[in-house]
Amino acid sequence: MSASALEVAGLGKTFGGLRAVDDVSFAVPQGSVTALIGPNGAGKTTVFNLITNFFQPDAGEVRFYGKSLKHLAPERIAALGLVRTFQSARIFPGMTTLENALIGGHLQVRNGPMQQMLWLASARREERVLIARAKALLELVGLAPHCEISAAELPMGAQKLLEVVRALMARPRLLLLDEPAAGLNDSETAELAALLRAVRANDITVVIVEHNMSLVMDVADQVVVLDAGTVLASGTPAQMQSDARVIEAYIGQDAEAV
Ligand SMILES: Nc1ncnc2c1ncn2[C@@H]1O[C@H](COP(=O)(O)OP(=O)(O)OP(=O)(O)O)[C@@H](O)[C@H]1O
Ligand SMILES: [Mg+2]
Repeated sequence: MSASALEVAGLGKTFGGLRAVDDVSFAVPQGSVTALIGPNGAGKTTVFNLITNFFQPDAGEVRFYGKSLKHLAPERIAALGLVRTFQSARIFPGMTTLENALIGGHLQVRNGPMQQMLWLASARREERVLIARAKALLELVGLAPHCEISAAELPMGAQKLLEVVRALMARPRLLLLDEPAAGLNDSETAELAALLRAVRANDITVVIVEHNMSLVMDVADQVVVLDAGTVLASGTPAQMQSDARVIEAYIGQDAEAV
């Protein structure tokens, strides 16, 4: 067994009277891709919000490489290498595609503001390295030809790919992706799958919320199924695809997805 990058233990969150997340526990092995699936409203995004402390949990604990994230601000958590994307892409509309990607890299530039201001040789070198990395990642998802256009002009699917690139520019150890394929066409989905394979090859751990089961089957090592705020089942993608409880949870909801 490889060590856990992330452990979620007994996580709970109530909104008003609604138990959105109820005693959710799972572990994410280092270097693996874990898919978090379940019907609409199952609590998937809320689990991400609790892991990253966008919401304070009512119960439970999250550990990242054994370290409790209790009471850490979301920015501190990102700086530790636990980086997320959002269900609807959050790009900076006044900036180009390349500039949007570079924002992620600036989270981890070692040069201080003074060095950057003086634009020392080392800072220039770092910026050149960041630009080269950004361009390579943008190339991988087919966005290289659109580097210099305003990101707001990109189609929605391209904006979602750009958000994943920006998250990767922060050199995460663990990436939380909330429905990255939603709104993507077939070729964009194939580019996302290629990017995720590159991510895994670089030993970055991934938790992905995804409704596209063929993508889940393609990239996931393990699947955790949420239903009405609780963990319904977990196992390999093949096990989950043929699990009667999982199929039942999706019936009338998104039967096609299963
Ligand atoms: N900030 C909030 N305030 C009140 N209720 C919320 C809040 N966030 C989520 N909920 C409720 O918690 C439940 C779980 O929502 P969540 O967004 O986590 O589901 P999800 O599994 O991500 O669904 P989807 O597949 O539609 O994105 C839903 O009933 C939702 O209405
Ligand atoms: Mg959601």
